[in-house]
Amino acid sequence: MKSENLDYFCSLFNQIFKYDNMSTTQAANSANFDIFSQLEAHDHEQVVFCQDKSTGLKAIIAIHNTVLGPGLGGTRVWHYNNDAEAFNDVMRLSRGMTYKAAISGLNLGGAKAVIIGDAKTIKTEALMRKFGRFVENLNGKYITAEDVNTTTRDMEYVNMETDHVVGLPESMGGGGDPSPVTAYGVYMGMKAAVKHAYGNESLNGKKVAVQGIGKVGGHLLEHLHKEGAQLFISDINEEMLAKYSKEFGATVVKGDEIYGLDVDVFAPCALGAILNTENIGKLKAKVIAGAANNQLADENVHGPMLVEKGIAYAPDFLINAGGLINVYQEHIGYNRETAMRNTEHIFNVTLDIFKDAAAKNIHTQKAATEMAEKRINDILKVRSTY
Ligand SMILES: NC(=O)c1ccc[n+]([C@@H]2O[C@H](COP(=O)([O-])OP(=O)(O)OC[C@H]3O[C@@H](n4cnc5c(N)ncnc54)[C@H](O)[C@@H]3O)[C@@H](O)[C@H]2O)c1
Repeated sequence: MKSENLDYFCSLFNQIFKYDNMSTTQAANSANFDIFSQLEAHDHEQVVFCQDKSTGLKAIIAIHNTVLGPGLGGTRVWHYNNDAEAFNDVMRLSRGMTYKAAISGLNLGGAKAVIIGDAKTIKTEALMRKFGRFVENLNGKYITAEDVNTTTRDMEYVNMETDHVVGLPESMGGGGDPSPVTAYGVYMGMKAAVKHAYGNESLNGKKVAVQGIGKVGGHLLEHLHKEGAQLFISDINEEMLAKYSKEFGATVVKGDEIYGLDVDVFAPCALGAILNTENIGKLKAKVIAGAANNQLADENVHGPMLVEKGIAYAPDFLINAGGLINVYQEHIGYNRETAMRNTEHIFNVTLDIFKDAAAKNIHTQKAATEMAEKRINDILKVRSTY
């Protein structure tokens, strides 16, 4: 590689979230490469690189913050274009977990793991168990769980090597699929946002558009239908659209048409970063409340834009925390009722966020982030003495 290309990469690598194609080994050869600046940028505590030739394991475990408790976050298997992309992803995701746990009142810190490779070919019992041994070596400072491209079966393999794993099947004393609990939390957050916008939490007769009717979206539809909401749905899965339009009398909407619908509530339950300038411009809904992670394309631009348009936005990482609340229960001794009761509390916290945001004249995502940071700082003071 030519030296100007190397310099170009390193300057990008030093700005967190912007990387170019190059292996970390090449980057490490550069005098400009400073991995600790990446850890310092968002105050990560520890990053562990795991390598095992015999199983083909290449994984990164990022522990962002453990002030509130052990770092809990799922393990994602993904075919990253390069190591830097994997590093970037795990750093961003682990930080997000810290905020989600903090605002949910859990005694958990934030962490995440990525395994690099194509899930269809790389995942074996040996690889997952080897990963489990790396998790075990962290002595409970990191607790793993399912994420994109990992299943309860994978967690069973991990569990053969370590107890520091949640998201196990109900037959093994775990909480099973967290999606119904996530959906219940989104429903609670939506009701709070509707109360804030319309003065009454009832969804009876309200028009709700749900984008993405997968595991979470599907369960959300059940709650909404039960309460008498009028439903509009969009998905790329025609089979699911047919199923739910029949089951709940939902109107099927094609692709991007969902943004311009004359509805009361828009629930993004598919993809992140869909709240951009163009889509926000089209929205007629007065409330946004959905499960998708990182819905705001640019928090600093689109958070204030929603306030300007008078749209009540229920922060994603607050209202989609039901799944995390569920696995936390597994960590302390699983009880479904307690998990649901604690998830119900999302209603009150969401209302508090709307009040706080209005009082401070800031957007709700910022208010939620500040509330999470405040809890971490408060508990840090509690733990300043033995
Ligand atoms: N499952 C959980 O407990 C949980 C917890 C927190 C956050 N989330 C987030 O909530 C979202 C949904 O999660 P899920 O578990 O239901 O996933 P899922 O894969 O079961 O469902 C996603 C649905 O979105 C659809 N979809 C994909 N692209 C689309 C598009 N362009 N337009 C419309 N629909 C599209 C898919 O076909 C699928 O039906 C994700 O962003 C996820 O990260 C899920």
